[in-house]
Amino acid sequence: MPNLIVLGTQWGDEGKGKIVDLLTDRADVIVRYQGGHNAGHTIVSRGEKFILHLIPSGILHPDKLCVIGNGVALDPHALVEERDMLRNRGVTVDKNLRISDACHLILPYHRAIDKESEKFRGTRRIGTTGRGIGPAYVDKMARIGIRLGDLANPALFREKLEQNLAETNYLLEKLYTTHGLDAETIYNQTMALADRILPFMDDTALTLHRAIRDGKALLFEGAQGTLLDVDHGTYPFVTSSNSSAGGALTGTGVGPTAIDRVLGVTKAYTTRVGSGPFPTELINESGEYLREKGQEFGATTGRARRCGWFDAPAVRYACRINGISEIALTKIDVLDALPTLKIATGYEIRGKKVDEFPRRVEILEAARPIYEDHPGWSQPTAGVRNFDSLPDNAKRYIARIEELIEVPVTVISTGVGREDTVIRQDPFAAR
Ligand code: GDP
Ligand code: IMO
Ligand code: MG
Repeated sequence: MPNLIVLGTQWGDEGKGKIVDLLTDRADVIVRYQGGHNAGHTIVSRGEKFILHLIPSGILHPDKLCVIGNGVALDPHALVEERDMLRNRGVTVDKNLRISDACHLILPYHRAIDKESEKFRGTRRIGTTGRGIGPAYVDKMARIGIRLGDLANPALFREKLEQNLAETNYLLEKLYTTHGLDAETIYNQTMALADRILPFMDDTALTLHRAIRDGKALLFEGAQGTLLDVDHGTYPFVTSSNSSAGGALTGTGVGPTAIDRVLGVTKAYTTRVGSGPFPTELINESGEYLREKGQEFGATTGRARRCGWFDAPAVRYACRINGISEIALTKIDVLDALPTLKIATGYEIRGKKVDEFPRRVEILEAARPIYEDHPGWSQPTAGVRNFDSLPDNAKRYIARIEELIEVPVTVISTGVGREDTVIRQDPFAAR
């Protein structure tokens, strides 16, 4: 059975949750590989809306195994909260969830640093979700992180925590001139959650290896989007993990030869939350229209998402970086009533025409999109399930996107529900 990575090709919120939930039917194991509860993946299942932050979107299917890989930053409170929310709503979260012992923990001091360092940066702030993601990954790379496995050894956990806090409190008190945090309190709060988390702990790289050996189909669920990737995104206005395809390997311990296909989830227009350059952004009533019609409000922080036209070089760049084999194009229905649509085919940068997405942020900041106009279809596509029923202008819009990004659009999403989808080619089908 093929193993598939599903990831975002823009700045997040492309509709990954919906697509993962839809494809979970065909997979056996669903794996998160990076990010943390900064993600907000929305699923509408039988009319009920679920927002998942940390647990893979496959969890609504009780017969599937869900795995949180080592690359994920794990906030113990967020995990227990999400587990409780799901259980209260009748969703099984038990042996069907496995969490890597090598996941780095997000602890209260990471959230404090996230908040204070954003304040300190002023106008150059990233606009983070405030979940402590960046500081937790800083500790990982600085080799002072605390991992889930450490909770199984309370004395070791306490020792590491005290050491880290000695340093962090200095920063909080002396640089950020705020109050430090108490190691004893954090220790007690975290250990009080340990009993509820440790039963999920596992050597997930081994579990995944065995699943692959036994011919199971794996679905890797990306969080954030390629343009938020710490290496390949619009640095420094990015998140602190590799949301691109490489992250699925380092974040799980699965080797590259196990991956068969990479599905890019792409919104039929563009959105971004937080700071950073966004060439096709619409700061006018068209942007307002997309926000209202597309309900573009953050699934994690509730912030209004910035909205703009489809940026073809940006998505073509994401296709290249990830080796994307096929695209799921989402939210096409949001464009239904617009008389004219624009697609950016390149940019003008300091008087020069540029076709490729600029890698450097100061160049991207100077980029003015070059647009081509497309007639709208003034006809509902919402809920359409087969390609032939789409209006001709919608088909043309999709065909033009395929041409510009050089990858086929094999799935088209026309609404929030699982069934509101056109599947031109099943990503899990043998070819
Ligand atoms: P994710 O972070 O990539 O999983 O995306 P989010 O869940 O943050 O944001 C996508 C939003 O669009 C959610 O509210 C989804 O329910 C919604 N959505 C997904 N696909 C479609 C679609 O095809 N049409 C419409 N109208 N909404 C969609
Ligand atoms: P999903 O998985 C959209 C953005 C934040 C901020 C930047 C860094 O739902 O697509 P962080 O808290 O990660 O340090 O913030 O990244 N960001 C997202 N934007 N969707 C997300 O996740 C995001 N996760 C982080 O807004 O600009
Ligand atoms: Mg989201």
